[in-house]
Amino acid sequence: DTSICILGIETSCDETAAAVVRRHDDGSGEILSDVVFSQLDEHAAFGGVVPEIAARAHVEMLDGLVEKALKEAGTPLGSVDAISATAGPGLIGGLIVGLMTAKALAAASGKPLYAINHLEGHALTARLTDGLEFPYLLLLVSGGHTQMVLVRGVGNYERWGTTIDDALGEAFDKTAKLLGLSYPGGPAVEEAAKRGDVTRFDLPTPLRGEKRLDFSFSGLKTAVRQTAQAIAPVADQDIADICASFQYTIVQTLRERIGRSLERLLGDSAASGATPTLVVAGGVAANTAIRDMLTQLCGEKGFRFVAPPHRLCTDNAVMIAWAAAERMALGLPPDGLDVAPRPRWP
Ligand code: KG4
Ligand code: ZN
Repeated sequence: DTSICILGIETSCDETAAAVVRRHDDGSGEILSDVVFSQLDEHAAFGGVVPEIAARAHVEMLDGLVEKALKEAGTPLGSVDAISATAGPGLIGGLIVGLMTAKALAAASGKPLYAINHLEGHALTARLTDGLEFPYLLLLVSGGHTQMVLVRGVGNYERWGTTIDDALGEAFDKTAKLLGLSYPGGPAVEEAAKRGDVTRFDLPTPLRGEKRLDFSFSGLKTAVRQTAQAIAPVADQDIADICASFQYTIVQTLRERIGRSLERLLGDSAASGATPTLVVAGGVAANTAIRDMLTQLCGEKGFRFVAPPHRLCTDNAVMIAWAAAERMALGLPPDGLDVAPRPRWP
């Protein structure tokens, strides 16, 4: 049996996570443990992630989580084949904590170290959960990222579109904050939107008529602020109506832009033969209105739609261990103990 067993560590934002994953010879994966500590409560009072608080919480939690992940997996450190950690992109304090911990474990155990790009983790998750073949389109929508990426292979990614200002989750969070809703804003806005009238306010469509595949959300946030100011003091029903319009506008914009990405993939020769597939990842993928739109859009265009379980769509260490396993299985070289964290890493 030449299967490989990897310990993964994730500390790039506000989740502290450790996991052990096994990759079998046939390319399938098995999650042996998956431990996540969410720092939500630490940051809620501030309405967003506070980098310094995040870094300190990672320091306090990580050792215990790694120990727990190894114990639950039934694999002592000595019997894993490699150690991996997110090296970027993300908040520098957290990245240092996770990567230094991984380096220390690698140095102490003599195991190879894989410094993983967090986005590559998100991009390859669907291969673990659904056994997907390359290529496929990935829509990554979280608090920090908004990207449409063609995943051609391990280490072979083509970014087709990104946000030119706020990330999609960030737009939900900021909108919630200025309407006085709780953090994280996404679920709060979605909940309020259910009681709202989408026809009451007409918010501007971002980048209307533009041919590129990029996204923009800051204008929408400004429009929400102006709308709220114009009718102040805002009542409960006003908030619900604004949230409904905001979410509706987002869904329409995504639909138009993603629709064009799907068409572009159909015209891509590299994709011919395989079933065209769209994968969604990131915390915003929990939004029912967005999910329903994606399901419908994929149906219309003849795409398979894959949404990994929510737990693996949001930040976790399984995806980091899995990305390392994919790299190791291909014979890609590990990183040296001098590898540096990269807060910006496209
Ligand atoms: O992937 P994630 O858990 O963490 C990172 O950003 O890395 O994503 C969190 C983001 C937050 O901005 C949150 O407001 C958003 O995902 N989110 C949602 C929903 N649930 C979470 N956005 C819209 N609708 C939701 N139901
Ligand atoms: Zn993420």
